[in-house]
Amino acid sequence: MFASMSAWRMPTLFIMSGLLLAGCGSDQSEARFQQFQQALGSPSLLNTGSDTTRANEAHRPLPSVQQLAVNADKVTLGDQLYHDGKLSKDGTVACAFCHVVARGGIDGLPVSIGVGGAQGGINAPTVLNSGFNFRQFWDGRAATLADQAKGPPENPIEMAHKWPDIVQTLKADAAYQQKFARLYPEGITVDTVVDAIAEFEKTLITPNSPYDRYLAGDKTAMKAQAVNGLKLFSDYGCISCHQGINMGGNLYQKMGALVAYFDEKHKPTAADQGLAGRSKRVEDQNVFKVPSLRNVALTAPYFHNAAAPNLTEAVRIMSANQLGRVMPDNEIADIVAFLESLTGETPKIAAVK
Ligand code: HEC
Ligand code: HEC
Repeated sequence: MFASMSAWRMPTLFIMSGLLLAGCGSDQSEARFQQFQQALGSPSLLNTGSDTTRANEAHRPLPSVQQLAVNADKVTLGDQLYHDGKLSKDGTVACAFCHVVARGGIDGLPVSIGVGGAQGGINAPTVLNSGFNFRQFWDGRAATLADQAKGPPENPIEMAHKWPDIVQTLKADAAYQQKFARLYPEGITVDTVVDAIAEFEKTLITPNSPYDRYLAGDKTAMKAQAVNGLKLFSDYGCISCHQGINMGGNLYQKMGALVAYFDEKHKPTAADQGLAGRSKRVEDQNVFKVPSLRNVALTAPYFHNAAAPNLTEAVRIMSANQLGRVMPDNEIADIVAFLESLTGETPKIAAVK
């Protein structure tokens, strides 16, 4: 599958600022990435155990929805629940309110707005392809999509409801009763509700981006500028962090890996702590799950704090703070062209058709 990407099969090593940054792309990449992560500060919540199952693959095309092993009836039920305001206290805030599938799986806001106009403290990541992430949330606190889905309904600044009340409301709906009874012997429970939502989310994938077609062998799928951007993305070492099938979502890394990002200017908030917020370890300060770059052209503003309004600015900051490099404007433009080739097909779901 990767025959055309021979550059990535070589052990690409980058030596910068005295650090050895090991590139990905070979079968032994896992050990090298452990080394890379250690060189960058060894976050204590590094991928271990099941976290590694999806990690450390080279970029590869997304599968088609038909290739996924999902239960179609659960997907339909999950689709309905995902779009149902009944999961929120005032009946108006569905998951889809903040994660609009037809618009890159986000809300397009710097921070989300929940029930009663409550403002969140962090930028909403996309739900598209999130099933490929090794953990969920910026700080990786949920291990699975089902685990993740338990959070928003009870989050006071999101859906502000209580699970026992949600289960009661759903049970009062005869159509839901019937659908759940057919799929789950235990009927409507917190676990069955989030299981159906997770099954639906697994199908929110965006295959056939120009880059995926390029990876699959169609050398005409990307324009020359994007191909050059891909080369720069690899040569500069962006690929060391944004890697795996989701081009991210399989490692934790520090924001400001080589050059400190948070300073007086940026006024750190609780959300800026990243993993340290839950691990309380100094070395986890400002460490986040590396976000997926798939469909990134659709998901401005960028970063957990929405500090970059566009891709040009995001790439400039990445280059400066993650790689310690001042990147010329023409190279930034080429990388942006590459990032724009990562937009795949919008999932065909009932609400989008
Ligand atoms: C009020 C807006 C809002 C609502 C409603 C909401 N979310 Fe989110 N979602 C967010 C924000 C903000 C985050 C990031 C929080 C964090 O990382 O700490 C997030 C994170 C996620 C993630 C993690 C993605 C990743 O890559 O880490 C998934 C998946 C997700 N939400 C799915 C859902 C589902 C399913 C529902 C409904 C049960 C839902 N969301 C309801 C705002 C919202
Ligand atoms: C050392 C690891 C590392 C390297 C190298 C790296 N990134 Fe990142 N990237 C991250 C992390 C971590 C974030 C999230 C930062 C945050 O939200 O505060 C991120 C975020 C981004 C985002 C914003 C995504 C979003 O949805 O908000 C873009 C775009 C991006 N990186 C592109 C690049 C490019 C292009 C390069 C190479 C010039 C690069 N990155 C190099 C770790 C890295």
